[in-house]
Amino acid sequence: MESNKQIEGLRVAVIDDEPIACRQIQRGLSKKRYDIETFADGESAIKRMHQAPFDLILCDLRLPGINGLDVLKTVKERYPRTEVIVMTGYGSVDTAVEAIQSGAFHYLAKPVKMDELRSLAAQALEKVRLIQEKEALKKALFSQSRQQYLIGHSPAIQEVLGLVKKVCSLNCNVLVQGESGTGKELVARALHFFGIRRQHPFICFNCGGFTEELIANELFGHEKGAFTGAVDTKIGLLEAANRGTIFLDEIGSMPPSMQVKLLRFVQERNLIRVGGIQAIPLDVRLIAACDQNLKAAVKSGQFREDLYYRLNVVQIELPPLRNRKDDIPLLIHHFLSKYSQRFGKPVSEVEPDALEILMQYPFPGNVRELENIIERAVALTDRQTVGPRDLPGDLQQLSISSLESGHWLSLEEKEKEYIQQVLIKTGHRKTAAAEILKIPRTTLWRKMKRLGID
Ligand SMILES: Nc1ncnc2c1ncn2[C@@H]1O[C@H](COP(=O)(O)OP(=O)(O)OP(=O)(O)O)[C@@H](O)[C@H]1O
Ligand SMILES: [Mg+2]
Repeated sequence: MESNKQIEGLRVAVIDDEPIACRQIQRGLSKKRYDIETFADGESAIKRMHQAPFDLILCDLRLPGINGLDVLKTVKERYPRTEVIVMTGYGSVDTAVEAIQSGAFHYLAKPVKMDELRSLAAQALEKVRLIQEKEALKKALFSQSRQQYLIGHSPAIQEVLGLVKKVCSLNCNVLVQGESGTGKELVARALHFFGIRRQHPFICFNCGGFTEELIANELFGHEKGAFTGAVDTKIGLLEAANRGTIFLDEIGSMPPSMQVKLLRFVQERNLIRVGGIQAIPLDVRLIAACDQNLKAAVKSGQFREDLYYRLNVVQIELPPLRNRKDDIPLLIHHFLSKYSQRFGKPVSEVEPDALEILMQYPFPGNVRELENIIERAVALTDRQTVGPRDLPGDLQQLSISSLESGHWLSLEEKEKEYIQQVLIKTGHRKTAAAEILKIPRTTLWRKMKRLGID
């Protein structure tokens, strides 16, 4: 096997049992700067293909071992994007027709004319290049649409953004904590896509609800024959994320035995596939997320302390939406424009009554819940605004119970409401809030506890 590494990176295989024919074609194409490999039979070309696929195969129809038509069929089945040009001796027109019907790009009559060869190869490779470009574009668009920006002007979100900017290009592990729907994955994506690893993979894995074996298999991969059913070697997600980032969601539910394995990986920066013996060095940044307090899980013995400190080099805490209500109007605006665009409906505003309801609602599902509410409202409304009736039933109830005339708040309820308003105004800085309320900080803290304000 000879190889001609060239700049364009398009890979071409020539399969012919006559070495002279191979050499001629190779010479004929070499001006085109392709990366060309030659093979005397179909089997060895297919074997090589499994290691490094070809973009174009020029294949003689009559070959020792499997014939050219079988090579074509195997290639088209397993590598549909590879183009195949078959070469036929005279008198085999029927086979050439069959080859075209089986997906060959074209056929060349032997002896091969160099001009014809070059022109056909260039056409086939142009097709390959266009498809590759289209796919790259699709991928880029997809990752762009997934890579939205964190919206919010509350001090809490500004602090998160500051931290993201500071650490996105560092290699330290990050632990992101926050209730469900607060934007943990969004932060992990921002850390990856704003950082120096953005050209490399970002891979998410949710550790929740899996057994140790399953997680180990997914993260570390396995060697062929590691267990019944392991018919092939499989690369794990950590290996696939090499030079990029892995996002380990719900890290708190990782079984203890798996935590040991992960710790080993974090410390050694290499892994051994399940059933393997060889350590594979890797460069992967770890971002872990947890919707409970992981420190508490350490205290109660559910999470390893050593792993906790390894993962928690930098911690990013996402506050629940009810504690940063001043972000609600901005988020509403963001989601209105997102969904009005998606649904092709010019909905640009939320009516004051609806906004009042949304400002009161505590959002147990956080930003995700607000997003769903706006998506639904944009889908339902037949005006250019969102009104109370476009909101879910239980939220409409909220408006009736609290806004209806005749509903009087108790002193305690009023006190709670007022403290909450002051907290929002001060961006949850308790010292500043206590100053406005003219009470000591400890009194404020006690009141918040009693009234259930967090
Ligand atoms: N600050 C924000 N700005 C814009 N969109 C946000 C913000 N925070 C969250 N979102 C949106 O809310 C949804 C939920 O966010 P995400 O999936 O990151 O939350 P999560 O914390 O990972 O939730 P879970 O714990 O349930 O997995 C996403 O559609 C995300 O784009
Ligand atoms: Mg998530």
